[in-house]
Amino acid sequence: MKDRVKVVVTGAAGQISYSLIPRLVDGHTFEDKIVDLELVEIPQVVNKLEGLVMELEDSNFPNMGNVNYTANFEEAAKDADWFLLVGSIPRGIVFNGKKIEERADLLQINGGIFVGQGQAIGKFGKPDAKILVVGNPANTNALIGRHAANNESQLWMAMTMLDSSRARSVLSKKLNIGIGEISKMIIWGNHSPTMYPDFENIMVNGLSGKDLINDMSWVENEFLPVVQQRGKAVIDSRGASSATSAAKAALDTVMACERPTQSGDCFSAAVISDGSYGLPEGIICGMPLMTTPDGKVEIVRDIILSDLAKEKIKISTDELIDERAAVEDLLT
Ligand code: NAD
Ligand code: LMR
Repeated sequence: MKDRVKVVVTGAAGQISYSLIPRLVDGHTFEDKIVDLELVEIPQVVNKLEGLVMELEDSNFPNMGNVNYTANFEEAAKDADWFLLVGSIPRGIVFNGKKIEERADLLQINGGIFVGQGQAIGKFGKPDAKILVVGNPANTNALIGRHAANNESQLWMAMTMLDSSRARSVLSKKLNIGIGEISKMIIWGNHSPTMYPDFENIMVNGLSGKDLINDMSWVENEFLPVVQQRGKAVIDSRGASSATSAAKAALDTVMACERPTQSGDCFSAAVISDGSYGLPEGIICGMPLMTTPDGKVEIVRDIILSDLAKEKIKISTDELIDERAAVEDLLT
């Protein structure tokens, strides 16, 4: 009999989910496992999910198990292995008469969602459940959810994989190399324009990416700003935030956690800081991670940070500390 995995997806009727959900059951992300899906939406739109379920059935995915849709998060959370928390309001839309421009605008609007969901995950999710927060502001939403869950054995992450994918894409064009030739692409800090894509620790086919780039003007004037502002650039063009690339990044994060990391490599996600690298404790901060052969996700602790890197990372961790202060009422 095949193993099963139960996956909860919130915001299941949204843009990202439309690209994400089918690929959870296509036999690639969870390899051979049968995937049971719990698709969660707010009551106003939950019935739209009936159509999505019809489409999933009509697609004949061989690894699809039970599929349920609901507006009851607590019910959905029972014994789940994975939570992909996408449900929240994106930038670029008008909410209560105001156009949402910055992630900070989302703090109070979206933060509240993660208190109830966090409590339910802590109580009903599997003890070793993994939670990936995609909804923005992802790092601080994950902090709120993790605090509400109050369950140390579960792993809360905020997604920075999309930022590392963007950085790889920009770099592969600069160096005229394939995406797959780049390893150790680390995003430090917040999933926001203050993030620090670490160009100094990248490896390209075993060689130092920093030496191959050898162009600080390009790093400062192109690489960093393009990666840091890519979310806004997509919103400005599409009139909606990145969806298919965000879905791919969520799948890449799941796969990075489900398979052992190759020796010498790492992947990017934000987790609770334990003071490693001198980062402030108690924020959800982008860091290098690895999955051990027995399936544990751990912080990689042997990365060397230059003074320049430390300076840039501090800008982002200071922002995370400010965000934490702004949602203090949700952390009590
Ligand atoms: P969308 O508006 O298309 O979909 C969001 C869905 O969430 C909606 O269907 C909405 O009804 C649902 N929702 C809202 N509150 C909910 C709740 N309490 N429970 C369940 N569902 C709820 O938006 P989208 O384009 O799919 O983006 C979703 C989020 O992902 C946004 O916050 C966006 O900013 C964020 N995002 C993050 C990254 C990243 O890299 N971390 C990248 C892209 C987008
Ligand atoms: C992104 O990086 O594309 C998302 O976080 C959406 C946004 O608001 O930038």
